[in-house]
Amino acid sequence: MANYQEKYLSLTLFIALLALPCNAISVPNREAKALLKWKESLGNQSILQSWVTPAPANASTQSPCRWRGITCNNAGNVIEINLAYTGLKGTVDNLDFSSFPNLLRLDLKVNQLSGKIPSNIGLLSKLQFLDLSTNSLNSELPVSLANLTQVYELDISRNNITGELDPRLFPDGTSRSKTGLISLKRFLLQDTLLSGRIPDEIGNLQHLSLLALDGSHFYGPIPPSLGNLSSLTVLRLSGLQLSGSIPVSFGTLSKLTVLYLHINHLSGFVPEELGNISSLVVLHLAENNFSGNLPPEVCGGGKLVNFSASFNNFSGPIPKSLKNCKTLYRVRLEYNQLTGNIAQDFGVYPNLTYIDLSYNKLSGELSPNWGECLNLTLLKAAGNMIGGKIPDEITQLNQLMGLDLSSNQISGIIPAQVGKLSKLLSLSLKDNKLSGPIPAGIGGLPNLQSLDLSANMLRGPIPYQLGDCSKLQNLRLNENHLNGTIPYQIGNLVALQDILDFSYNSLSGEIPSQLGKLTSLENLNLSHNNLTGKIPSSLSNLRSLVAVNLSHNNLEGPLPNSNIFRSAQPEAFSNNKDLCGEREGLKPCSPTSTEKNSGNDKHKVVVIVVASLASISIFLMVCVWILAFLHRRSVNQSKIEGSEKRENFFLIGHFNGKLMYKDILEATKNFDETCCIGVGGFGKVYRAEMPDGQVFAVKKLSSHDEMEIEEVKSFKNEVAALTEIRHRNIVKLYGFCSGKRQYFLVYEFMERGSLAKILSNDVGAKELDWTKRIRVIKGVAHALSYMHHDCVPPIIHRDISSKNVLLSSEFEACVSDFGTARLLTHDSSNWTAVAGTYGYVAPELAYSMAVTEKCDVYSFGVLALEVLMGKHPGELISYLHSFSDPRIGLADVLDPRLSPPIGQKDEDELSFMLNLAILCSHAYPRSRPTMRSVSQQLEAGCL
Ligand SMILES: *[C@@H]1O[C@H](CO)[C@@H](O)[C@H](O)[C@H]1NC(C)=O
Ligand SMILES: *[C@@H]1O[C@H](CO)[C@@H](O)[C@H](O)[C@H]1NC(C)=O
Ligand SMILES: *[C@@H]1O[C@H](CO)[C@@H](O)[C@H](O)[C@H]1NC(C)=O
Ligand SMILES: *[C@@H]1O[C@H](CO)[C@@H](O)[C@H](O)[C@H]1NC(C)=O
Ligand SMILES: *[C@@H]1O[C@H](CO)[C@@H](O)[C@H](O)[C@H]1NC(C)=O
Repeated sequence: MANYQEKYLSLTLFIALLALPCNAISVPNREAKALLKWKESLGNQSILQSWVTPAPANASTQSPCRWRGITCNNAGNVIEINLAYTGLKGTVDNLDFSSFPNLLRLDLKVNQLSGKIPSNIGLLSKLQFLDLSTNSLNSELPVSLANLTQVYELDISRNNITGELDPRLFPDGTSRSKTGLISLKRFLLQDTLLSGRIPDEIGNLQHLSLLALDGSHFYGPIPPSLGNLSSLTVLRLSGLQLSGSIPVSFGTLSKLTVLYLHINHLSGFVPEELGNISSLVVLHLAENNFSGNLPPEVCGGGKLVNFSASFNNFSGPIPKSLKNCKTLYRVRLEYNQLTGNIAQDFGVYPNLTYIDLSYNKLSGELSPNWGECLNLTLLKAAGNMIGGKIPDEITQLNQLMGLDLSSNQISGIIPAQVGKLSKLLSLSLKDNKLSGPIPAGIGGLPNLQSLDLSANMLRGPIPYQLGDCSKLQNLRLNENHLNGTIPYQIGNLVALQDILDFSYNSLSGEIPSQLGKLTSLENLNLSHNNLTGKIPSSLSNLRSLVAVNLSHNNLEGPLPNSNIFRSAQPEAFSNNKDLCGEREGLKPCSPTSTEKNSGNDKHKVVVIVVASLASISIFLMVCVWILAFLHRRSVNQSKIEGSEKRENFFLIGHFNGKLMYKDILEATKNFDETCCIGVGGFGKVYRAEMPDGQVFAVKKLSSHDEMEIEEVKSFKNEVAALTEIRHRNIVKLYGFCSGKRQYFLVYEFMERGSLAKILSNDVGAKELDWTKRIRVIKGVAHALSYMHHDCVPPIIHRDISSKNVLLSSEFEACVSDFGTARLLTHDSSNWTAVAGTYGYVAPELAYSMAVTEKCDVYSFGVLALEVLMGKHPGELISYLHSFSDPRIGLADVLDPRLSPPIGQKDEDELSFMLNLAILCSHAYPRSRPTMRSVSQQLEAGCL
């Protein structure tokens, strides 16, 4: 064979040499020249090594047919250029299309091509296949495309982005499964920044079977001429900025199997004719402004598998044809105003895995049929008007991971067999009319992460078996009629993080001291019960606590000795029997009650006798102390007021602004350079060790005679944002002061300083091992998720960078510096100035002033990459996005100063984080996940 080719070659060579004089401008020669000219314009591209010029004497023999990516026909004409997935960089500007009159296929997908699609592409008059997807092309579509009348496949999208895998379509994170990872990978593809309108002339491409323009920047209406493309089977127009309505002509696309229109600004009615397309398998209409009815015959052909219409204004009934649509696999109709009866309008779907009907106007009861949809992993119907009972049959759904029936009018009891739902991750039945007991079987749910049964009429005790749900992160049983004691087994729920809320019940007895084991818990609410006895001192171990409420009980004795109990609002402890403590709103404890509450009664009697003797002398001492204190205070005050007339103190929490101001001046030696520990965007940061040994970080805003407007704004933002924020991964603001030409904020001191500092030196970087780095990334994700999704209004940080992430002595990451944060109100979406740190600012801010949460998501992605790599990722970000498979060897990316992670778990987790970080740093904001889903996915752990 090779021999034959050689012979053939030398024969052609021989003939060509003979023919040289008269054949100098043969057609193949022209093609080779055009290719070489293009190669030259691309600079050094190793992939094009085989594209070489023979010696000048043989110029006429140049045949590109054996070059990489080139295919010729028998006549030696180039019919295919295929350089897909080759990492090709540069533009196609210098590829002269007029030289390839015979080209049938041009495939350049998944490269790093930029620039325009040349306007003369229409010269490729025989072209049948054009794929330029997943590049960085950034022009409008040339009208001459309309001359490519032979084309049957035209793909200039980001190839693999599909609506059903959009992470925003999994807002609860419960659908994370094996495909969760695949969906991440699929997102790691770069945008083609093609823009402009979709030219009407595309309607001329009569042979088109596939047209994919999704994931670019097209705007304007959908050209009605697309309805002429009668051969279309796949039409993908999702993730654009299309407006107007769906052309009625779409109803005639009788071969259509896949139609993506989701995530656009489309409005109006969906033509009923869409239901006539009997071949339809996938229809995505989600996230537009559609109104009116859904097409009743949407599953008329009996082939519909994936259907989404969520987040629109659809009203009217559930489409008739859905009832017997056995093929359904995923259905998303949430957030519309659909009416109907949930029992009558739905049938049995053997393949259905996911259905979300939440926030519509559905009524009726849950039918036992749902129990026969055995492949269901998620069933949501929250926020409707569903009544009746929960059918026992639902407990047959042994694949179910998420069940949300909250905010309906469901009555009756929780099925006793609920413990059979062994895969359940999240169960929410809140805000219904459920009565009866909490079934002990819930304790048999080993994977349960979230349980919300609040606001019902549940009675009886809290089953102690709940203590076996070792993965529970939040537990809400508040607003019921539960009685009995709090089982001590609740203390075994060490994974509890977000909240433990038992408030507004009739719980009695003492608070079990085992609750002190919940060291990750952030919110504890036991208020409005009948709890008695002392608060166990073990609760001082709840180091993550940011909010506590024990009010309206019959508790007595001293508060546990920890910060949160000292700094919480007085209301958190009000209306109890006899609580005491060294804080405002409570009487100080007598020596008796400061004793550990382990003493028996005899012991107490002795103590009381001793105490009453002691108290007389203490009383005397206190009097002396108060007199001395008052004297000192008046001296101090006159001193301060004398020197700083324009002082303006504020009081936050339990700190006295005036005393603090003076102490801080002393502690920082009047802001001496030796106490300076850092320089931030708006001022320097100082370490201030107070007379009592407490250490703070004080951020002093630059002192001018008058504060610049920008600074005042920043100052106020910082204060407003931070005083409302309480989260273990956000630096706590203790107080703030302003005096004459002095403005400063008093923060929690973070021993280890900024992440940037630690990563920049080898010793610090080594100490920050993989386990710690994983925690840092998670911590920042939780903080941002909290700010974006749990604060009302949401708060955008705007300046996430490694300088603004500080580490505690235990390497817990805390986000700091809200100098540029701003409360996001509904009426204002514009900014007057770009803020943020270079290298972390989301690319869209270069052309748009609108700052959204997605800007923080981008910065988070950069930061996470930085933590993994040990340095700012720089160019790597755009590089990573140009490959379809981002798992370019974890080892190539990880910080070389640390030895590679030991153990599969760390490795898996790191590679999951890498994927997530790349996804977050996607150039296109809508393709980035929300911080809530990032935070949940990180917490759910690696697969
Ligand atoms: C497209 O085709 C028309 C008619 O055949 C021709 O006049 C026009 O020049 C072509 N345009 C391009 C850009 O090839
Ligand atoms: C369910 O899914 C399987 C596998 O994908 C498929 O073979 C089967 O036809 C589907 N059943 C229905 C009723 O669509
Ligand atoms: C549905 O479940 C059955 C068994 O319960 C399984 O065989 C089948 O593959 C599942 N179908 C799909 C589409 O997952
Ligand atoms: C809890 O309430 C029920 C009535 O709802 C009552 O029968 C039971 O005795 C109560 N248990 C306790 C411990 O108070
Ligand atoms: C698209 O996804 C398919 C299936 O997952 C995969 O085989 C293909 O390589 C992907 N293409 C790109 C461009 O990523």
